[in-house]
Amino acid sequence: MIGKQLSRWTMAWFAAALAFLLAALGLAVLGAAGPGRWSSGPGLAVLHLFALGWLCQMMLGALIQFTPVLAARPLALARLALPALLACSFGTALLAGGFLALDGWEPGFALLAAAPLPLALAFALVGAMVAATLLAVRGWRQDAGRTVLAALLALAALWASGAGMALALSGSDIGMALLPEGVPLHVLLGVGGWLTLSAIGVSYQLFPMFLLAPDRGSRLRDAGFACALLVLGLILAGLAALLLGGGAALPLLLPLAALASAAVVALYLAEARRMWQARRRPQPELNMQWSRAALAFLALAVLLSGPALWRGGVWAEAAVFAALVGWLSTLTLAQMVKIASFLTWIQVFSPLIGRRPVPMVHELTGARAAGRWLALWAAAAAGGTAALLAGFAPGFRLAALGLLVAALGLCREAVLIRRLRHLAADRRPALLPPMILPPSPRRSDHDHPRTAGA
Ligand code: HEM
Repeated sequence: MIGKQLSRWTMAWFAAALAFLLAALGLAVLGAAGPGRWSSGPGLAVLHLFALGWLCQMMLGALIQFTPVLAARPLALARLALPALLACSFGTALLAGGFLALDGWEPGFALLAAAPLPLALAFALVGAMVAATLLAVRGWRQDAGRTVLAALLALAALWASGAGMALALSGSDIGMALLPEGVPLHVLLGVGGWLTLSAIGVSYQLFPMFLLAPDRGSRLRDAGFACALLVLGLILAGLAALLLGGGAALPLLLPLAALASAAVVALYLAEARRMWQARRRPQPELNMQWSRAALAFLALAVLLSGPALWRGGVWAEAAVFAALVGWLSTLTLAQMVKIASFLTWIQVFSPLIGRRPVPMVHELTGARAAGRWLALWAAAAAGGTAALLAGFAPGFRLAALGLLVAALGLCREAVLIRRLRHLAADRRPALLPPMILPPSPRRSDHDHPRTAGA
């Protein structure tokens, strides 16, 4: 069960994330980022609009929605969701603007120095909600719960490394030791420790449910989690070594962390295969079909990370792109279609069960159109990875255009789902809930347990 109730601000988190996605892709189409340009001010701005504004906000919103499901109890401190969302969006915009200081925009230095504060507030608020809910039920004893808790630890370290570098770039002595050697650790924390680990944790909950596969622990999950803790330990040791002036240890720590990360991914892919083979649903739905494409990108990103570590340059650009755009974004977009349908169904139809015929969840989705947009997204992600490897800027811009068109198409699908446009008019209730903002608290079932379910 995805959740019998909708967290009040889930749709707002998703909408804000989609707005950042469109902004990042629009800027990439205009040429703000591309091969060899990721360390420039505009390149770093686009990168962080994408990583923080899109992926991170989507993940935080998803955790706020799913943690009650993992813990089988209501979310702790649920009122913090809105301030966290505002702080996260504001901090991301400040950071992106601040990066323009690197290309000579003077006011950007103040923004760079200020941005870590709202981001710290946002991460601390969501961390408090999620951790308090999971710890109350000893969530560290479940596969999904302990993975999410480890991901939150990585998020704290990611913030610390990013804040240190932002302060250093704005002219402070704090964090100076992290530049430039700390960048690979920061990237591993962001792409691997925080985003990939939380995606793994959430997928342990969602994949068995969508595939109708037995939901049980396995040795693969235990071994993967042990390797993930090893990776986190190595990265934290690397950061501590840099800050204490022991950077000489990095050439040893980094390859070890990369090797252990590859083991985490190999074990996770084996576990995903096990779940797929154990499924009782003969024809997996759209979201799971495209999750397989996302998993293929995850494997590609790990293959590219070997040469990325030794040779850097185009290999590193392609590895990070394949992970952020191919793996994490394809997975998120595919699941978003399903989750938007499910949550809309819960909001609109679960109160009507037993009173009138209600549609099935999948009838709310336009599977063919969504499938076409996801296919375009995956093709453009593959094209963008190839263009980065070849250092071919026009090819990269074309791929960014493909991604933008696919993202716009999927946004349209989300609107159609929220408005129930795939149902015949006589099957839609006269009154629909607001598209993004929560209904008034008196009318709403949000954040309150319901007895009816899907
Ligand atoms: C999931 C989240 C994040 C991801 C995936 C991510 C990714 C990256 C990547 C790939 C780079 C290197 C770009 C390059 O030079 O080629 C980078 C640099 C940087 N990041 Fe992040 N980042 C994330 C979050 C953050 C946060 C939260 C902050 C600040 C609080 C931050 C601050 C910085 C700074 C200041 C740099 C520039 C370092 C330099 O000058 O080389 N990042 N990030």
